[in-house]
Amino acid sequence: MSPRPSLFGLALAAMSTLIAAGPCDLYSSGGTPCIAAHSTTRALYNAFTGALYQVKRGSDNTTTTIAPLSAGGVANAAAQDSFCASTTCLITIIYDQSGHGNHLAQAPKGAFSGPESNGADNLASAIGAPVTLNGQKAYGVFVSPGTGYRNNAAKDTAKGDVAEGMYAVLDGTHYNGGCCFDYGNAETSSLDTGNGHMEAIYFGDNSGWGTGAGSGPWLMADLENGLFSGSDPKNNAADPSISSRFFTAVVKGGPNQWALRGANAASGSLSTYYSGVRPKASGYNPMSKEGAIILGIGGDNSNGAQGTFYEGVMTTGYPSDATDNLVQANVVGARYATTSLTSGPALAIGSSISLRATTAGYTTRYLAHTGATVNTQIVSSSSSTGLKQQASWTVRSGLANSACLSFESKDTAGSYIRHYNWELQLNANDGSKQFHEDATFCPQAGLNGQGSSIRAWSFPTRFFRHYNNVTYTGSNGGVHFYDAATSFNNDVSWAISTGFA
Ligand SMILES: *[C@@H]1O[C@H](CO)[C@@H](O)[C@H](O)[C@H]1NC(C)=O
Ligand SMILES: *[C@@H]1O[C@H](CO)[C@@H](O)[C@H](O)[C@H]1NC(C)=O
Repeated sequence: MSPRPSLFGLALAAMSTLIAAGPCDLYSSGGTPCIAAHSTTRALYNAFTGALYQVKRGSDNTTTTIAPLSAGGVANAAAQDSFCASTTCLITIIYDQSGHGNHLAQAPKGAFSGPESNGADNLASAIGAPVTLNGQKAYGVFVSPGTGYRNNAAKDTAKGDVAEGMYAVLDGTHYNGGCCFDYGNAETSSLDTGNGHMEAIYFGDNSGWGTGAGSGPWLMADLENGLFSGSDPKNNAADPSISSRFFTAVVKGGPNQWALRGANAASGSLSTYYSGVRPKASGYNPMSKEGAIILGIGGDNSNGAQGTFYEGVMTTGYPSDATDNLVQANVVGARYATTSLTSGPALAIGSSISLRATTAGYTTRYLAHTGATVNTQIVSSSSSTGLKQQASWTVRSGLANSACLSFESKDTAGSYIRHYNWELQLNANDGSKQFHEDATFCPQAGLNGQGSSIRAWSFPTRFFRHYNNVTYTGSNGGVHFYDAATSFNNDVSWAISTGFA
């Protein structure tokens, strides 16, 4: 008898083809191809070698594009690190890999204004969300409140009641209750044009419209004028609170049918949180989808939310559960993992440190406080004990993220440096999630080559900056006087020494 390939062998061959495929190859095979594919971490097609995203650096406002290391591979983070060395970088464009030209760029003013002087939203720092994929470093899109991306002229996206699907890989631990950390289909006008004019992934713990089990955060669908955890009633106990560090979110919708599915993006398979009919309130059946694409904001440019986006796509047609499941297996195979958020001189937990300004003319001044105001003051070995204590800080594990740090006052135990209205203040830790986030900072090698630059974990475009001897969290070239590009690198670089006290 001549040997024949066994059914098992054929199945294995088909399986390895699928494993080699990217998420959008899988959606194509399933008959629901991607019409938008966005990722700063990796190629979403097996053969993709083009630009993944564009960054702009603060030193000269020039841009460069970041591509995968190889066809279908992980982003070339080293190229970003080299381009952005000794300065700051923003993610300016997230390119569409699908060939439909549906790139995402800075979201313009909508019904709500963003923080930029023209009402646009902020761009994300290029370094706020480092991760590894199969051991290779890449950067996600860390969306702080006020940050947003959009394409109001997207092509070939679902309109009206036409079916579509989408998934995104998110940070399951970075969220808030603001409206709305979304990815998906929205209004082309940046205005709220009514029920059913959106269909987007939402992630966070906003409980104003829908809720799931526990206290959140939840995956819900933003269908406009409502975040839906299911159909009716408003609470869907089958929509779980998410606690995995990496989270795969799936939303899909067609005529009087939609579904929410989710999974740990690092292991396991998708669960269906809801699959059924459209909400009963008027406007959701049929839908009136408009086909713009948003990331990090609501359809009307509501920009109070935060979250982290690593990759996501939108499809034409309603993907089968089987196709979603293959995509989840592919995401797990990408092996997302955390990596260090800090660099530069090591700051030992529990140690007392003092931080000296490195700007010429200010190098006798140390980060200190006068009551609740954090400032710089001239301190030396002959200063009073009181002043030495005001200029000494105990290094603590980051209150919101233990991969970063918090700084407790030496003379006011229980009080920490936090940002508030972009000023640095010394406030008592009230135990709230907001305080913990405002008081968590990630040191990196000093931008002027000296000591450390200390960026806000929750706003990674912003660094400890002295200006007129008061301290702020400044962003390089931003809209406030303390964001001035002039002297930025020097004003945000601090020499670290053993604490005076
Ligand atoms: C700020 O510090 C500089 C350098 O020590 C000093 O010359 C200047 O008078 C200070 N200005 C204010 C407003 O405190
Ligand atoms: C870059 O652009 C910003 C915003 O327009 C501006 O404030 C800054 O001075 C520019 N920086 C350089 C180095 O040209």
